[in-house]
Amino acid sequence: MDLGIGGRRALVCGASGGLGRACAERLAAEGVDLFLVARGRAGLDRTAAQIRDESGVRVDVLAADLSSTQGRQAVLAQCPDPDILVHSGGWPESHPDFRRWTIAQWQAALDAMMLAPVELITGVVEGMVARRFGRIVAVTSRFVKEPRLEHMLSISPRLALAGFMNGIARESVAHNVTANALLPGIFATDTQHDYARSLATEQGKSVEQVWKERASTNAAKRFGEPREFAAACAFLCSAHAGFITGQNILIDGGGYPGVF
Ligand SMILES: NC(=O)c1ccc[n+]([C@@H]2O[C@H](COP(=O)([O-])OP(=O)(O)OC[C@H]3O[C@@H](n4cnc5c(N)ncnc54)[C@H](OP(=O)(O)O)[C@@H]3O)[C@@H](O)[C@H]2O)c1
Repeated sequence: MDLGIGGRRALVCGASGGLGRACAERLAAEGVDLFLVARGRAGLDRTAAQIRDESGVRVDVLAADLSSTQGRQAVLAQCPDPDILVHSGGWPESHPDFRRWTIAQWQAALDAMMLAPVELITGVVEGMVARRFGRIVAVTSRFVKEPRLEHMLSISPRLALAGFMNGIARESVAHNVTANALLPGIFATDTQHDYARSLATEQGKSVEQVWKERASTNAAKRFGEPREFAAACAFLCSAHAGFITGQNILIDGGGYPGVF
């Protein structure tokens, strides 16, 4: 299916690895020009070179830390008018006991997982409305739908983001600008492989054993592939998805136990 977005421009954050990179690759395959952001310049340059080779689209990059206002403002200054915004990003680990979470950690979590996408959305949405096309996708987590106390340092900011995006979605959809979040379950990204290695060491098990145990937590009994996630993201960014907005869409291999 032609997604109808060839020649559009996307700002993709967290684009040098994992789900963000997969989304960038998929959009490029649809002929979308890219502006890629992550903190590390080397990873960005590698990603950009590979995408240019494979897709022939224009790819610009900026190394910036999106958890700081300075970083976000630098991105908006260089890429003020994207047609598509995909926000992915870090994967902070936290102590499972909420009594150990400090105010500094709460602030860092809010900065990375709520204020980063909020400031970027705020910066680009008016231009999208004026041009009568915009697609905003935030990558959050399955735990937004299935909160567990031990994850709430990262999920609380994401729930707040879901509220903000729902308001933006209703305000802007009449102008063909949508805003949705994709809620990943477990996906086989480098960070998940690193996490499995650290769990294996901690629990005295093999990495394969840990991987298998984690895979068995969803109905599909496997990790998702980043390209599967990216396909869903590309569809939400497509010309065909103008009637889907304000949604929090799970993509988790049947891991969520409920109906709605
Ligand atoms: N993979 C999963 O199974 C899974 C499951 C649930 C939720 N998620 C969520 O999905 C998102 C992506 O996960 P992932 O597995 O794709 O992560 P990943 O492989 O670690 O990729 C993260 C990307 O974001 C960039 N990044 C991190 N912090 C940043 C910052 N402060 N400013 C700018 N760029 C930043 C990283 O590059 P630099 O390090 O160079 O900045 C990298 O390009 C995360 O928010 C994670 O919580 C993932």
